[in-house]
Amino acid sequence: MDGNGRWARAHGKERTAGHLEGAKAVACVVEECCRLAIPYLTLYCLSLENWKRPRQEIDFLMLLLQKYLHEQRPRIMEQNIRLAVIGRREGLPAEVQAAIAENVAATSENRGLTLCLAINYGSRAEILDAARALAEAVREGRLAPAQIDEAAFASQLYTAGMPDPDLLIRTAGEMRLSNFLLWQISYAELWVTPRYWPEFDAPLFHEALRDYARRERRFGGLGKETDDSA
Ligand code: IPE
Ligand code: MG
Repeated sequence: MDGNGRWARAHGKERTAGHLEGAKAVACVVEECCRLAIPYLTLYCLSLENWKRPRQEIDFLMLLLQKYLHEQRPRIMEQNIRLAVIGRREGLPAEVQAAIAENVAATSENRGLTLCLAINYGSRAEILDAARALAEAVREGRLAPAQIDEAAFASQLYTAGMPDPDLLIRTAGEMRLSNFLLWQISYAELWVTPRYWPEFDAPLFHEALRDYARRERRFGGLGKETDDSA
């Protein structure tokens, strides 16, 4: 979700106003996923690298997150959303950790959209955590090195049990992955829009989904036109 700051600047507002407007776009996309019965939506809310920002902005983002979890809770229950959070919990303010734990627990029986929030998330850190956990398991004799296959590795990631993303949407025209789900997006389709995140709305989301639906995913195999067995 990129471009909140640029959206604010373009409208002569403070960066915080951009984040507030971005939160509205979140509500809109979540509604749309529920309506379209999309089973998983992961939102990159805060990266480990975002701590380089001014304290004030981080504090604002933390408050916004808490406010979102609190205010949206009734709607989240109504929509049958199951909340998941990926990222390092340590380092987050105690109130944010509590709000996350409360919402994850309250929605754990819900069976609609899994709304996964990447908070304090960094993909390399996630991969390192997984490697360390596997190394521990080997050291303790619970796992043989030869048993470390893709499934074993994926089972140690924060996203264990979730399918890999099919589509990655990036706003504000940036052409990079910014340490997001590097293992999981190996075969994801990428879709980039120049529009800032606060401008992301249902019609733009539909455009991304329509583009995605037109793509042919080969996963390293041959395309329909060249593969006789298909
Ligand atoms: C994304 O918008 C929001 C978060 C990282 C929380 P930015 O704050 O990165 O907006 P730009 O990149 O300055 O426009
Ligand atoms: Mg940015």
